[in-house]
Amino acid sequence: FDVVDLIHAKRDKGVLSTDQINWLVDAYTRGYVGDEQMAAMTMAIFINGMEREEIRDLTLAMIASGETLSFEGLGKPTTDKHSTGGVGDKITLPLAPLVASFGVAVPQLSGRGLGHTGGTLDKLESIPGWRADLTNEEFYAQLRGVGGVICAAGSGLAPADKKLYALRDITGTVEAIPLIASSIMSKKIAEGTSALVLDVKFGSGAFMKDADRSRELAETMVRLGKDAGVKTVALLTNMNVPLGLAIGNANEVRESVEVLAGGGPADVRELTIALAREMLAQVGHEDADVEAALDNGQAMDAWRGMISAQGGDPDAALPQPKESHVVTADRDGVLVEQEALPFGIAAWRLGAGRARKQDPVQHAAGIDLHAKPGDTVRKGEPLFTMHADEPARFERALESLEGAYRIGDEGDTVHDGGPLIAG
Ligand code: URA
Repeated sequence: FDVVDLIHAKRDKGVLSTDQINWLVDAYTRGYVGDEQMAAMTMAIFINGMEREEIRDLTLAMIASGETLSFEGLGKPTTDKHSTGGVGDKITLPLAPLVASFGVAVPQLSGRGLGHTGGTLDKLESIPGWRADLTNEEFYAQLRGVGGVICAAGSGLAPADKKLYALRDITGTVEAIPLIASSIMSKKIAEGTSALVLDVKFGSGAFMKDADRSRELAETMVRLGKDAGVKTVALLTNMNVPLGLAIGNANEVRESVEVLAGGGPADVRELTIALAREMLAQVGHEDADVEAALDNGQAMDAWRGMISAQGGDPDAALPQPKESHVVTADRDGVLVEQEALPFGIAAWRLGAGRARKQDPVQHAAGIDLHAKPGDTVRKGEPLFTMHADEPARFERALESLEGAYRIGDEGDTVHDGGPLIAG
């Protein structure tokens, strides 16, 4: 094939054949097709979309670009979840041990944060000694023993996606449903899980602001999973306001441990329970009492086992911020607005996230919220506390929070985007 012919075809709203897509992905992975050509192709896909068969072919071609794992010899079912990402989304931390505590293997290959959405590995690396990188042998041994593993994905899974995602990131072509769906699902299918629950976010802090587009993304991913023989379901969940009260790294670990101890913010507990029920139902544990497992220490024991197995000390003190700055209410009233995206950007600017892949994160940086939308507040009471290693960061963070939160009067509409779980 000639790549320019394929670009012409997609530019003019044509449909690419299986052979053409296989050739394109292979040639791009090997470097025969250049970044500038693939950038034109992804923009054509962004604008003109893909048919269902093309999305399936693209996903399969990306899987075939690398290794695939298999859990068949494990002797227990596997289930995994993927979130499309949000602000304060630490759900993997309490969820993986909760599900693993029922004797199910949870192979949770996770990533680091880039931009305003945090990364699960960055959060866990706040725990002294904890290691994200495991060999395949360590990974399998932990799945067999402790049951739950949260670790970095090896570079062998779907290398075509790694290259393509980096290209999309710098060419304005991330937010295309065929590209997001094939990117996420190629990694999850290559990973070899037998079941998968997708937490597809909509709203201010999500990739997809609009619930209808999120639904389309969810349906596309569920179809890809089922076509590949992975039991896949999706929940559509609200990311208009930050999840829980902690946005950052170490503070999100602390909040997750509260949930594992039977407490924690109501929304974090609710979503953890809802996702755990879905994951367990897929592997035959429809009757699992997940609430009891949070309340009676069963999930906490699994968490301690998982952290220790990866060199972490579950009892160690977490990093403390060097500097803190409290923002207080300037009047009595009701908090009617707390928009996720600006709070995510502020936490990032405080040092909780990174601007470039190679940057480190500051584990104690971030934001602790003291009120959520709908809460009554009194003048002078703290609304949120920012943490950073350098005080100069507070001003930049406050700039991004301008207009992001608002105190109104009793009876005013609360802008929280509605229920946490939309369907
Ligand atoms: N996460 C991914 O892995 N890929 C995307 O395209 C978007 C989010």
